[in-house]
Order: sequence, then structure tokens, then C-alpha cells
Amino acid sequence: MTELDPKIAALRAKRAQGRLGGGQDRIDRQHESGKLTARERLDILLDPGSFREIDAFVVQRGRDFGMDDPDKQFLGDSVVTGWGTVDGRLIYVYSQDFTVLGGSLSEVHAEKIVKIMEMAMKNGAPIIGINDSGGARIQEGVVSLDGFASIFLRNTLASGVVPQLSAIMGPCAGGAVYSPALTDFIFMVKDTSHMFVTGPDVIRQVTREVVTKEALGGAVTHSSVSGVSHFATESEEDCLFLIRELLSYLPQNNLEDPPFVPTQDDPLRVEEALDSIVPDNPNKPYDMKEVLRLIVDDRRFLEVHEHYAPNVVVGFARLGGHSVGIIANQPAVLAGVLDIESSEKAARFIRFCDAFNIPIITFEDVPGFMPGVAQEHGGIIRSGAKLLFAYCEATVPKITVVTRKAYGGAYCVMNSAAVRADLNLAWPTAEFAVMGPEGAVNIVFKRELDKAEDADSLRAKLVAEYRERFANPYVAASRGYIDDIIEPRDTRPRLINALEMLRNKRDSNPPRKHGNIPL
Ligand code: HXC
Repeated sequence: MTELDPKIAALRAKRAQGRLGGGQDRIDRQHESGKLTARERLDILLDPGSFREIDAFVVQRGRDFGMDDPDKQFLGDSVVTGWGTVDGRLIYVYSQDFTVLGGSLSEVHAEKIVKIMEMAMKNGAPIIGINDSGGARIQEGVVSLDGFASIFLRNTLASGVVPQLSAIMGPCAGGAVYSPALTDFIFMVKDTSHMFVTGPDVIRQVTREVVTKEALGGAVTHSSVSGVSHFATESEEDCLFLIRELLSYLPQNNLEDPPFVPTQDDPLRVEEALDSIVPDNPNKPYDMKEVLRLIVDDRRFLEVHEHYAPNVVVGFARLGGHSVGIIANQPAVLAGVLDIESSEKAARFIRFCDAFNIPIITFEDVPGFMPGVAQEHGGIIRSGAKLLFAYCEATVPKITVVTRKAYGGAYCVMNSAAVRADLNLAWPTAEFAVMGPEGAVNIVFKRELDKAEDADSLRAKLVAEYRERFANPYVAASRGYIDDIIEPRDTRPRLINALEMLRNKRDSNPPRKHGNIPL
């Protein structure tokens, strides 16, 4: 056996040293706290053997507070960066290494992230950030803050150019939260990840509120209460697999179409169960997610924001092998009413789909906007306008299926014909009206009802007449607001056909710097 060249041996030794990050003791501590290391996470996220690291020999430049000590010079500093593949498709990654100075963000740490983000933008591939950090490197002061700001700028410039996904797998506090918050989707892991602008100690001092880290900014809190996180997973492995799955629906960048994934599911499949899924009683709920599963390829629906504002359902699926973004009112929760949170949730999802060439399918069963002082004072006017703006502005193929109620302002908002929907379909159970029959009769016939001897039976008669006249799809179809009334069982083939028909759709908005969505 020939002897290894000493220079190559030295290179290998340095690489091995770099891979140890902050050393075996700190790696052990990381494992004891229920977390994987930065590199172990990349091993799970990326296709085996595909990772190519860069800047592994970069070292930090801090000299204050003992940072000139050779023991503080970790090869690669506190973040691992590079690229690899997921299902054979290129992605750029950075993974913060908590074993090196708590994953804190130094000047060089920021430079490494910025370099990889700029490569992602130039070469048109998604960027995934794995966050596990004590925040700004305290010893570097404002230099570290400047590093954060330089990342925020790249996040903003990359928005709508390449998909940006953030996994939170440890602490993410202070201004550090704003990088993930600027990205498209945030994934958190239950019990081991936390996000907050100010932690429990500061909150106790300032507002006297007592709260645990988990209750304040854990995965469950952010995926159900604040909506900051889109996904909450049981383990880091689950989280990384979910990121792989989400990527399978997305194009590499805004100039590409999403990947085609062949399916055995027959594009002409009719689904008789859909014919009876909407109950006869218009006040009875049904599960819109079951409707979706019966229609999409292989019953696979990747729900986004599952636990936040569940009165609207959003997520990705495929129809005939092509990715679609689905927005659906959920009659099983709050009768599918639109409120502040559900409007904003749907609006943000629509804008993501539009930015990345993913056709939008809307399933509509909405009794209107949520009444209430809290909603009005909380700005439902502004939030509803966000949803309207998002639908109006979107130029990807937009198809609506009205399954039941399309009432009031919510009818206009939910991708109606006049806001540039490409195709509006209705089931025979659809009802189009300014409001529900009872409310309408009480307003229009107030005088008659006040005078009537038997107001209840008069009201029942008028409600029946109103329902007969308006609570059906035929008036809307006679005006052409609805392009066709279809049998529910045919929904899958009709949607696949419509997507095919719209494959080369071209539409644009007037030239301008940008619109002014009511933020
Ligand atoms: C430098 C840090 C650090 C930091 C942790 N370390 N945070 N070094 N700068 N911000 C180091 C520790 O000294 C320690 O080094 C190692 O990382 C692990 O930290 P521990 O405290 O031992 O770990 P743990 O008990 O798990 O606690 C983790 C922690 C805690 C919750 C993150 O370290 C912590 O509170 N750190 C400070 C967080 C913070 O206030 N950061 C600034 C936020 S403001 P050794 O050598 O012992 O391994 C901010 C502003 C950004 O980030 C603004 C952008 C606009």
C-alpha cells in the first residue's frame, strides 16, 4: 500500500476536526438534550452522499472577550453550509451548529449564510435553513447585528425568487426570529424548538406575566395560536422528512413549473361518494378535507397550517400528476366562516402559490365573514382585503368549485368570476346569495313580519321562496358567473381537464413597482 501524501493526510485531519464542531463532549450534550447535530440533520434531509460543504475552513475573527483564544477557533465556525439534493433536485442549505459557541451568529457565520443564499438565488434552487442558535454572538456586538441584517436583506430579496424553508430545531430568539419569519414556511419540532422576540425572563420583568418557554414559543403554540409556524412535528427526523415532502410539490424557482409526478390514480376517476357528501340540511357540517382527499391524486393532501385557523384549509396536492395549491372553506369548523386569521392564512398561501407557478383550486362553502366586535376591532376589514387582494392579483390558473354556500362578500372574495377566476364550477347543492335565507327574509320583510299574526309561518314560507329563488346555482349560471354546474362525482376529471386547458395560461398585472397589499 502506498503511503498517503502528508499534505493529503493533513487535509483529511483538518476535515475530521471540522466535522467534530465544538467537540465530542458538546456533541454528547446536544444528543442528551434530544437534538441531532447540524451535520446529522443534513444527512437526513439530503440524498445520501449528495452534500457538498463549502467554507469548512472559515474561522471567526472576534478578538474581544477572550475570543482570540485558539480554543475558540472552530473550523467552519458555528454554521455548516453547502448544497446537496433532495430526490435528485439541487437545494442549498445552512445548518447552525449549536456545539460551537451555541450556534451563535458571528460575522463569518453571517457571511457563510449570505454566500449560500446568493448562490441559491443566482442558480435558482430552494434554500433550507436549519436554525439552532443562541442568537447574536455576544462577544462580537454590533458586528453580529450587522450580520443578521445582511441575512434579512437576502431573505427579502430571495422572496418569490426561490422557495425558502426554515426548520427551527433549538432556540431562535430575539431578532434572530426575523430570518425564518421572512421565509415561506416554518417547521418546528415539539419540545426542543422555541421562537420568541423576548423570552420568559424578560417578559416576567416587564409585564409580570409568568410563562414557560414551551407555552410562550414552542411548536404547538406557534402552529396553533400565533400561526408563525406552518408545521409542528414530533421529532427532528419527522420534520426533515416533511421538508423533503413539501419540496416535492415546489418548483426550483419562480421561472420553473413544479415537477410532474406520475400517478397510477386514474385522471378520469369518478367518485360517487361525492354526490351525497353535502347534507340536505344547509346548517349541517361535513368535512371538506374528505372532499379533497376523494378528488386529489392518491388521496394525498399535504396540509399547511393544519392547526391554525382551521375554518379554512390550505395545502398542496396533485391532480393528474401536477402540483396544485388548495384553498377550501371548512364547514366542519365555525361553519367555514372567514375571520381575521383564516383570511390571512389563505392570503399568504395564495401569494406563495402565485409566486411559484402553482395553480390555485378553491373549494367554496362559506356563509360569510365572521360577525363580532372583536373581529371588527381586530381589523377584519383589512384582513379580508388581504385575501381579496391575493386572489385578484394572482395570475396562475385559478379554478373554483362551489360545493354549497357562496354568500355575501365572501362570494366575491373566494375567487369569483369577476376577480379573474379562470373557471367557476358549482355542484347542484351550491347556493349563491347576498346572505343566508333567514337573515335575508328578516331584513327584506321586516315590516310584514312585524305585522303578521303568525310571523313564524310567514317567515317559513318566505324563507322557502327565497331558497327556491336564490339558494341554487342556476341564477349564477344563467348570468355566466358560474361556467358550469357539474355532478360532484365528476369533480376530479373536470379539474384535471381544466388544468390541462389552462396549462399555457398567460396573464399579467399592470407594470408597477409593486402593489400595496393592505398589510
Ligand atoms: C456567544 C453563546 C451565545 C451567544 C450561547 N453561547 N449563546 N456564545 N453568544 N449569544 C454559548 C455559551 O457560552 C456556551 O458556550 C454554549 O454557547 C452553550 O450555551 P449554554 O448556555 O451552555 O446552553 P443552554 O443551557 O442550552 O442554553 C442555550 C441558550 C443560552 C438558551 C441559547 O445560551 C442563552 O440564553 N444564550 C444567550 C441568548 C441571547 O440572549 N442571545 C442574544 C439574543 S438577542 P460553551 O463554551 O460553554 O460551550 C439577538 C439579537 C439579534 O440575538 C438581533 C438581530 C436583529
